[in-house]
Amino acid sequence: MNVNFLSTPAAAVEADALLLLHFEAEGRPAIASFEAADLSTSGWLTELESSGEAKGKIFDLPVLHRPAGFAAKRLVALGAGPAATFTPGLLRKITGAAVRALKAKGVSSIALFLDHPHAEAALATAAVEGAVLGNFEVDVYKSKGKATDLVSFSLVSPEDLAAAVAHGDTIAKAQNFTRELVNEPGNLLPPLALAARAQKMAAEFGLDCEILDEDRMRQLGMGSLLCVSAGSAEPPAMIILRYSPPTPSKDHLCLIGKGVTFDTGGVSIKPSDGMEKMKYDMAGGAAVIGAMQALAQLKPAVAVTAIIPTVENMCGSRSVRPGDIVTSLSGKTIEVLNTDAEGRLILVDAIEYARRLGVTHMVDAATLTGAIVVALGHVHIGAFTNNDEMLSKVMASAKTQGENMWHMPLDDDYADYLKTPFADLPNIGGRWGGAITAAYFLKEWTGGTPWVHLDIAGTAWLEETKPFLAKGPTGVCVRTFIDLALNWR
Ligand code: BES
Ligand code: ZN
Ligand code: ZN
Repeated sequence: MNVNFLSTPAAAVEADALLLLHFEAEGRPAIASFEAADLSTSGWLTELESSGEAKGKIFDLPVLHRPAGFAAKRLVALGAGPAATFTPGLLRKITGAAVRALKAKGVSSIALFLDHPHAEAALATAAVEGAVLGNFEVDVYKSKGKATDLVSFSLVSPEDLAAAVAHGDTIAKAQNFTRELVNEPGNLLPPLALAARAQKMAAEFGLDCEILDEDRMRQLGMGSLLCVSAGSAEPPAMIILRYSPPTPSKDHLCLIGKGVTFDTGGVSIKPSDGMEKMKYDMAGGAAVIGAMQALAQLKPAVAVTAIIPTVENMCGSRSVRPGDIVTSLSGKTIEVLNTDAEGRLILVDAIEYARRLGVTHMVDAATLTGAIVVALGHVHIGAFTNNDEMLSKVMASAKTQGENMWHMPLDDDYADYLKTPFADLPNIGGRWGGAITAAYFLKEWTGGTPWVHLDIAGTAWLEETKPFLAKGPTGVCVRTFIDLALNWR
């Protein structure tokens, strides 16, 4: 999809549909473009309101064909709610919803007019993001009946918002790259294929990329990661992407993402009902790869290294068994009591590796536990930390990016849940607080390095289509990670 900025007067914009923001208001909204549009369309907007057909409610999309005085084929009064509560986050959603609804009607070029007082960079960026994200579909492997793609989206404004438009385009395309990876089924994107996709992206955008193969990981002693891939014919990998800023930075941020390309549960096998969804168990890794694509272009001042441990969790004659004891890279021993708690096993070797690289701060994203879905549903990411200052940075980024995050507890009282007489740690706690014990297990490897863990099991996959987003991979965390690196201080 082509994304551009136009400073053309709204009436002269050639597009299949021109969107005007329609605010909900008592009496006439004080929006100049509304008055102008209303005049040239002989009172269409006034009529919409007085008839009660559309009063600017969020997601309203009344369409006027062949509007007099406009070069566009259709005029759309995009419901934006009350002007007082209008935000970039809301504009992202309503623009996405407009794109999805209009392209379903065969519209292939859309323009959005942002007039004063809404001709702002943050709004332009969010609108473009909404359009690009809304255009994403999960039907790549359908041979017939695919949804049509939008050909172009233009943002039109009297202010020069070209940079803000390009910014939104870069971010949303990176997020869609993540969604593309997550959408790939396990057979078509095993660990080495994921590594190849990361490598290709790195070459295209100028990032350094290193892939640790199975032999190298064995040499290093990543016994925790390797026990997970042992049951699969697909070899594991550790993907490392490096972004170095133009001038060296004091801090070194590390993004770590769980990359289980398919999770059967292993010998502690999962129920077959819903198992097909476990192709999204690499959503954390994909989020990190997508964020790096954007950061390579947006060039933050802080150094950022991404580490994606990637494996397939299968059951076979070489699978790790319940009761097996493995030695992680750090030397800590783990009794594998449940082979389905594999995410934490691959992450701790990545965390130790990151610490050896000398990173100063770590954030990980992982579809780690079903328990986080029980606790927070599909609404919030569960956020855990060993450092409140670091967490507040991550939460601030999540907030500006419209990604819901909830601070979960991680006190040392939970240490009692992770005890075994046979090794340093068991890989699972008891029945209760499953998302917390999983996070606590990770924390045992973080040492003093400030770290935030994001459990995205409930938020990385959309169960039902939303007006602004297709069902399936959401690309959650990509925008938060980009914002975190860009605003690092
Ligand atoms: N990949 C799953 C977690 C998951 C569940 C992701 C639902 C997305 C949706 C993870 O590897 C897992 O299986 N965790 C177990 C841990 C348990 C064995 C302690 C779980 O949550 O059931
Ligand atoms: Zn699992
Ligand atoms: Zn898993």
